[in-house]
Amino acid sequence: MAKAIITGSGFESASFGEVIAEHRPESSLGQASSVILELENNANSAENFFWLRRHSESGGIAPHRINYRANIHALHELGVTEIISVNTVGGISKHCEAGSFVVPDQIIDCTWGRQHTFFDGEFLPLKHIDFTFPFSNSQRDLLIASATKLDIKLVDSGTCVCTQGPRLETAAEIRAYAIQGADIVGMTAMPEAALARELDMEYASLCPVVNPAAGLSNEVLNEAAIRERALGMLDTAVAWIKHALADS
Ligand code: HPA
Repeated sequence: MAKAIITGSGFESASFGEVIAEHRPESSLGQASSVILELENNANSAENFFWLRRHSESGGIAPHRINYRANIHALHELGVTEIISVNTVGGISKHCEAGSFVVPDQIIDCTWGRQHTFFDGEFLPLKHIDFTFPFSNSQRDLLIASATKLDIKLVDSGTCVCTQGPRLETAAEIRAYAIQGADIVGMTAMPEAALARELDMEYASLCPVVNPAAGLSNEVLNEAAIRERALGMLDTAVAWIKHALADS
């Protein structure tokens, strides 16, 4: 039973503690996005944890070019059974305004052309997994309990629509996603969450809302502003995750 964190845009420079080892597992699926760091869990020294940066160490891999299969498989090879993922998102619902944190409980997958399954009849034989509830209840509960203990305000459920990127959405797309029930919009929860489920790994997502989604404010959506907001939310997210890791 090992735990891992996967972080996304703006979180490449986070500090989760002392690095004990670096891993680069190889498989026929290719290279993971970044070196996988093994870190000391201060609260429970018997149990280290792993950290993977899905856009690479420098943040340069685009969402649709991430080798999600190599990433999840590499963590699985290291014995990881529980994953806390950070996915920065845009806010669609009013209660998911920029600056808030959401722990979603549902996904609408609008990605395409990504290598999205291990069960393709080639790497592993065909199998249909249950994905009714795409996120792990135990990991979601852990995140919610930690936020409560640390007095971090969060939105404890919601639907995340996952788009292809790297462009942001049109105003009409966001209106359509809102009608479909989406509360937040990101680019990386899929196929990551499904691949984790395929390998029986408990996966939950912590979503910092770093901008209002397209067309919902007068704000011009630009990368620098989005990155700045992500950086402004980094310390809280790191403290939250470290608390959750120590608590579990
Ligand atoms: N759309 C999609 N992905 C995102 C956004 C957005 O507005 N903000 C951060 N990731």
